[in-house]
Amino acid sequence: MKSGQASRTAEVAAAFRASHTLYAEPRILEDNYAHSLTGRFWRFALSNRFTHWLMFNRLLKRLSPVIAQVLVRSRYAEDTLAAAMKRGIDQYVIISAGLDSFSLRHSQREASILQILELDHPDTQASKRQRLQSLNVSLPTALEFVGVDFERQSISTALAASGFRRDAPAFFSWLGTTHYLTHQATTGTLLSIAEYAAPGSEIVLDYSVTPESLDADKHSELRWVAKLAARMGEPLIGGIAPSALHSVVTAMGYDIIEDLSSEDQKSRYCFNRRDRLCPTVACRLLHLRLSRDRQAISEHDARGGAEEGVAETGRLKRPRAVGAATDYALRDPDCATKEQPLTRSPICTT
Ligand SMILES: C[S@@+](CC[C@H](N)C(=O)[O-])C[C@H]1O[C@@H](n2cnc3c(N)ncnc32)[C@H](O)[C@@H]1O
Repeated sequence: MKSGQASRTAEVAAAFRASHTLYAEPRILEDNYAHSLTGRFWRFALSNRFTHWLMFNRLLKRLSPVIAQVLVRSRYAEDTLAAAMKRGIDQYVIISAGLDSFSLRHSQREASILQILELDHPDTQASKRQRLQSLNVSLPTALEFVGVDFERQSISTALAASGFRRDAPAFFSWLGTTHYLTHQATTGTLLSIAEYAAPGSEIVLDYSVTPESLDADKHSELRWVAKLAARMGEPLIGGIAPSALHSVVTAMGYDIIEDLSSEDQKSRYCFNRRDRLCPTVACRLLHLRLSRDRQAISEHDARGGAEEGVAETGRLKRPRAVGAATDYALRDPDCATKEQPLTRSPICTT
């Protein structure tokens, strides 16, 4: 992100949700606030069928897999949250919320008290709050905004300064962001949640796989998207091999509930569509739960057990403090390490 400027990709993601809500059938996600949350340019592009067709069916046609991914990731997070609420979870942390409108839609639909915390980069959050003010919508009383820059600050520091309840499990979503972060920032944030949140807490996030794990015929599509993201000032730097990420989060005390490939996402949410919307092959959706046995893992870790276990896999170095976050450096040959340059993530501008 450019300093002093709200995230442009957050705006693009909202424009994708608005486009889908206004013009697609059947809907994967219905976001009736997305249109008014976008800026003037996108509101104009979405204002009638012709400008919409020009923008989405001509100029941005190649972005269709990314558009599908933006819709599917939010739908998946909201479905997973609904299931978690049935199990009694009553606090929701939306990490890097961008122009996500869940809090507005939820408060209209349900009377239940879900405490919602929106965490985001202060520049993006300030711009969103201004837009919400100009929309004159009433915000849910149980919504709190918390500013945080993950390249400088840990999520636990941000949560400690908020109304977050550490003693109760929470649900976290982290969508469309790890693609733009260094591995240190991504793994540092996951570790910070693992150390701070109560056992049984859950997180849904999306991540980009490394280009090497994709067929060569996908590379030109991916390069095009990467170029576009870089031009918007938000280069894609976060590609991770699934096996390496799994080793890292398991060592932190997470259970892996699901890790959906694009095929899994397609069969769950985009099956048999006339418009052939289908999520990009480059992004996966990961659902994690903090193990109830985490205490035991921490004690084992404190005794150096994790170091031995991890050394066996050859994938992790011991975490070490880097700025505000602890660094779980990846050693997988497909992944970035301090010694190797960071792998450019292939896709997911949003
Ligand atoms: C593509 S947007 C995704 C927004 C939203 N989650 C969605 O799905 O539409 C990326 C988000 O990451 C946030 N972000 C980028 N770098 C960040 C950082 N260093 N610290 C905190 N948030 C960051 C941006 O402010 C933006 O809200």
